[in-house]
Amino acid sequence: MYRNKLAERPQFRQILKMSESLGTPHIIIDLEMIRDNYRRMKSLCSYADIYYAVKACPLDEIVRMLDEEGSNFDIASRYELDQVLSLGVDPGKLLYGNTIKKAEDIAYFYEKGVRYFASDCENDVRKIAENAPGSNVYFRVLLPHSDSADWPLSRKFGCSSEMVLNLIALAKELGLNPIGVSFHVGSQQRNLEIWDYALKTTAEIFEKSPVKLGFVDMGGGLPAQYNYPVEDLQTYANTIEKYIDNHFPGEKPRFIMEPGRSLVGDSGVLAATVVETARKDASDEVRWVYIDAGKFNGMVETIDESIKYSAYFPGRDENSPVGPVILAGPTCDSMDIMYENYKMEMPLDLKAGERIYFLAAGAYTASYASVCFNGFPPIGTYIYR
Ligand SMILES: Cc1ncc(COP(=O)(O)O)c(C=O)c1O
Repeated sequence: MYRNKLAERPQFRQILKMSESLGTPHIIIDLEMIRDNYRRMKSLCSYADIYYAVKACPLDEIVRMLDEEGSNFDIASRYELDQVLSLGVDPGKLLYGNTIKKAEDIAYFYEKGVRYFASDCENDVRKIAENAPGSNVYFRVLLPHSDSADWPLSRKFGCSSEMVLNLIALAKELGLNPIGVSFHVGSQQRNLEIWDYALKTTAEIFEKSPVKLGFVDMGGGLPAQYNYPVEDLQTYANTIEKYIDNHFPGEKPRFIMEPGRSLVGDSGVLAATVVETARKDASDEVRWVYIDAGKFNGMVETIDESIKYSAYFPGRDENSPVGPVILAGPTCDSMDIMYENYKMEMPLDLKAGERIYFLAAGAYTASYASVCFNGFPPIGTYIYR
């Protein structure tokens, strides 16, 4: 097991105890850990306002707690908007961060009091002007694909710097308030230099803009702790601040960030049960391990083997002999294989009925799970407080 922040907390034992009383698969989230993460981030990244990316883990308890802590929220859809408003969050703390949206959804956000909209194409700017007149708009700049992000967010969002400049002029002409630029360096970004490039690109847009800009949305990208070492938040915070100072040496615009994974990822543990272990031939060295969680119920980010969770085997000696496995989920779909090229090592005598805990599973797990594919219900999520 690679170092895991939740497993190092004294609460971990009680979380495992709570898990024992529940059927699998399920996820348990340590709410107080998210509070600690938020407070630490707020103090280390005091140069930016925090907008929690609700999509990472949209549980009411998390939204409520972060609201009380003073967080703002990045909202992806009218459904997230309804949820967050139903919990009493002030619409002034929200922004509509999805660049892909219907005209009626823009109107809905506007009617509910949201005045910050992300955009990246001409038709979308026109829709915002028509359905959210006079609102603040900011433009997402396309960053090159980055292999150092385990979950890249390139290609689909953003546009070239030249197009951003044209959209700024268009927004102004249409009576909107063009305020700035956004970017996302890719989720679980391991290379800090990408922020240097992103902030340099942003500063160049600021310089060339036909309108004075004062807002930079730096998106997410800060990491959780999976099965390999990552730099500490302190290093990320200080390095990004240094890049900000380099590229914006004079008057500072308002900086915001939209953390998802880095706030909630480490706080969750996903409990699964081994359904069976098998070999395709008696001579095979590698076993198949089938568990009751899979790509469709909690482990979606194993697509392309992108996110690699650490596994913990309760009650086992850390030194029990292990061997490589192919890890697969419970459905009748051959896509439902989590790790094949990446060979997880599991105890050689692992048996059906045994539990496995996947660590750092708080982000993009429950919120991504399918509704009843093959009849398996969406994975249950529980809060430990
Ligand atoms: C617009 C936007 N902001 C923020 C995030 C959160 O990113 P991360 O989980 O890397 O912090 C996402 C993730 O998809 C996003 O699309």
